[in-house]
Amino acid sequence: MQYQEFGNSGVKLSRIGLGCFSMSGAYGAADDTESIATIHEAMERGVNLFDTSARYGGGHNHRLIGQAIKGRRDKVFIHSKTGTIRDENDRSVASGSGKPDRLREICELSLKNLGVEYLDAMCQSRVDPTIPIEESVGAVKRLVEEGKVRFIGLSEAAPDTIRRASKVHPLVSLQFEYSLWTRDVEAGHRRTCDELGMALMAYAPLGYGFLAGVVNKPGPQSDDDIRGKFPRFFKENYAANRECVTHLERFAAGKEATAAQICLAWLLAQKANVFPIPGCKSRKHLLENLDAADVELTEEDLTQLDKIFYVNAAEGDRYPPNGMKRVNL
Ligand SMILES: NC(=O)c1ccc[n+]([C@@H]2O[C@H](COP(=O)([O-])OP(=O)(O)OC[C@H]3O[C@@H](n4cnc5c(N)ncnc54)[C@H](OP(=O)(O)O)[C@@H]3O)[C@@H](O)[C@H]2O)c1
Repeated sequence: MQYQEFGNSGVKLSRIGLGCFSMSGAYGAADDTESIATIHEAMERGVNLFDTSARYGGGHNHRLIGQAIKGRRDKVFIHSKTGTIRDENDRSVASGSGKPDRLREICELSLKNLGVEYLDAMCQSRVDPTIPIEESVGAVKRLVEEGKVRFIGLSEAAPDTIRRASKVHPLVSLQFEYSLWTRDVEAGHRRTCDELGMALMAYAPLGYGFLAGVVNKPGPQSDDDIRGKFPRFFKENYAANRECVTHLERFAAGKEATAAQICLAWLLAQKANVFPIPGCKSRKHLLENLDAADVELTEEDLTQLDKIFYVNAAEGDRYPPNGMKRVNL
């Protein structure tokens, strides 16, 4: 396992982390036994960066992780997000997600559900457009002062917001969707992270599984799969996106790797401060993903991948319209 200092924290974390979202049933049924075995296997293999949220599975994700890390708290870095309150009508960010009182409540709830005394990083899932970022980060800064949180992060924040927030308290990381088919961070977020000494956590590095080649039909893959709401999975966009993946699979075969491994190797090749956090809930997927660290991509390989996934190659937005209102704020 390769390790790298996580932003300016002084803490070395595994370059490949583990995203725990799908363990709470986002993309098909949850399986707690296999999920816990996956977390344990990840720890055995040297993974120490775990991503979660107070909202995943309504607290299920935190309780699951708490159970898995019991007695081994010092071996893991828990990056925990706050979740957002959604507007009842259009599910965009509702006023109040970034209110100081709510952030304190979420922190307390997270500590309780995880069964830990502190969060390694507390990250606001989405910027609340109705609350100045200075107020929200100021509230988390107080939690740092009280020893309940070690570091502060933001997710899907725009460069200007990141700069304003970091004047209140240094930020350790930005979490943003980043993969071969979602390269928005290249427009300025990556540079901002470099300048402020922040880590860039690449979420959905496998395109929610689409880029890993496991999405073989448009829409949801099962009754309980939220991905059916994502435009890139829609029938009208599916064929074009699947064609990109077919090219990726051919490229991967030439490197004796899988498509998922190429996605992760590509992110590792971007910059030392990029930490992909592939999500998986099985040891099989986990082990395949960790082996991506051994896949070497040459300059020529990177150019070829750029040709397959030129900027905006993907058909369809990454989120439905209500979700697009909540990103890059
Ligand atoms: N900040 C945010 O707004 C935000 C949003 C979304 C996600 N996240 C975080 O980022 C993490 C990663 O994103 P994600 O899980 O949504 O998407 P992802 O990592 O791009 O893809 C996850 C999907 O890929 C499948 N998969 C994983 N490894 C595979 C492999 N080697 N071969 C084939 N399929 C594979 C998983 O299946 P199985 O689950 O069956 O293994 C799952 O369906 C999440 O877990 C979460 O922690 C953050």
